[in-house]
Amino acid sequence: MSDTIRDESVRPTTQEPQPHEVPEGGLSEPTATAVNGAHGTPTTLSRRSAIGGAAALGAATVVAGVAAGSAAAQSEEPAARRNRPGTGRAVALITGTSSGFGRLIALTLARAGYEVYASMRDLHHKNADSGRALRRVADTEGLALHVVDIDIRSDRSVEGGVRRVLRRAGRLDVLVNNAGIYYPALLETQTVAQVQEIFETNVFGQLRMNRAVLPTLRRQGEGLVVQMTSGVGRITFPFQGAYNGAKWAMEAMTEVSRYELSQSGVDVVMVEPGAYPTDFIDNARELYRKYLHGLSRGDARRRHEYGELARRVENELAEASGPDPQEVADAVLRLAQTPAGQRPLRTLVGEDTALIEEINAVHLRLQNEIMGYAGYEDLISV
Ligand SMILES: NC(=O)c1ccc[n+]([C@@H]2O[C@H](COP(=O)([O-])OP(=O)(O)OC[C@H]3O[C@@H](n4cnc5c(N)ncnc54)[C@H](OP(=O)(O)O)[C@@H]3O)[C@@H](O)[C@H]2O)c1
Repeated sequence: MSDTIRDESVRPTTQEPQPHEVPEGGLSEPTATAVNGAHGTPTTLSRRSAIGGAAALGAATVVAGVAAGSAAAQSEEPAARRNRPGTGRAVALITGTSSGFGRLIALTLARAGYEVYASMRDLHHKNADSGRALRRVADTEGLALHVVDIDIRSDRSVEGGVRRVLRRAGRLDVLVNNAGIYYPALLETQTVAQVQEIFETNVFGQLRMNRAVLPTLRRQGEGLVVQMTSGVGRITFPFQGAYNGAKWAMEAMTEVSRYELSQSGVDVVMVEPGAYPTDFIDNARELYRKYLHGLSRGDARRRHEYGELARRVENELAEASGPDPQEVADAVLRLAQTPAGQRPLRTLVGEDTALIEEINAVHLRLQNEIMGYAGYEDLISV
């Protein structure tokens, strides 16, 4: 049941859905247990644990690193098979599925009965093997999983990719904005273009996807957007300026979208992972090497002038450790299975969550108060 959806050439299948076709250019988806003392003794937050950051609550949920997810995947047959057109399955689109959380989310949702569109960039070259590997698993397990080429930095790629998914599936129930990049650097030594590059993926990429998908979700009067932010979307660390800034931006814009979509039936939520051993740090090392190579003479001097601090940057590239990344995929599945209108704004996943949980709780209380003063109380959801 798996295949690849390429530019304008959707491979015919024996089971073509009868989609509610989206016209070209027209309007066009827990049990909360705190980890490591979320309700108890605050744990010390290490730098490593906070790249993803410990996480928080508020309208937030803290998800324990237990095997709940796989269980969740098997226990219900819920939203995934409700009365849908086409294959009758709920449809999910995920970005950045060549590795890490994205790949796990794609497989977890597909195993739970979703029709999954696993998107990754550059399927013909860079990610050809990843695409093939994902399709092989889907074929072996008989999953309804299709691989789609989407580079979230490109309007054209996003619009074309989403259009092909909608044409093929006829609807969309869950969008997971997962793709993201990171590397550490002294902020002053990064050019504006380099910082822009990080925002281009981590912020504008999500915006692009949301702009392409939201008209459909609003028209349907239902749907879920999951934004993969991070614990460091709530706190900051040296050498993570561009990344922290991008995740903070994503957090802010996600809150705003939630208000603005509160009357539409569409839920917008965030998953805030702590540090997990995905390909995240390997990819960061590669980007860091590129940054070092590209340093202008002026920026190399700036870097040199920071002395010892410049060398500490590289501690951020130490081997990643942490719990099983499947926890994050399980958290996404749980959100997808939670009834519309009852999904928390923030879901923390990972170790050492206590301090960010506190930040989230205080923030939520004050933010809701401010919304009340401003006369926007009616736009606050759960
Ligand atoms: N792992 C952690 O500790 C951690 C903690 C908190 C938050 N997060 C967030 O979780 C998300 C997933 O990260 P991960 O841990 O799974 O790391 P990962 O294994 O490096 O995965 C990142 C994914 O994003 C994709 N991507 C990057 N740029 C893209 C683009 N322009 N278009 C489409 N896809 C693109 C990558 O694809 P390519 O192979 O093509 O580069 C890769 O599949 C990110 O948003 C990250 O910020 C991670």
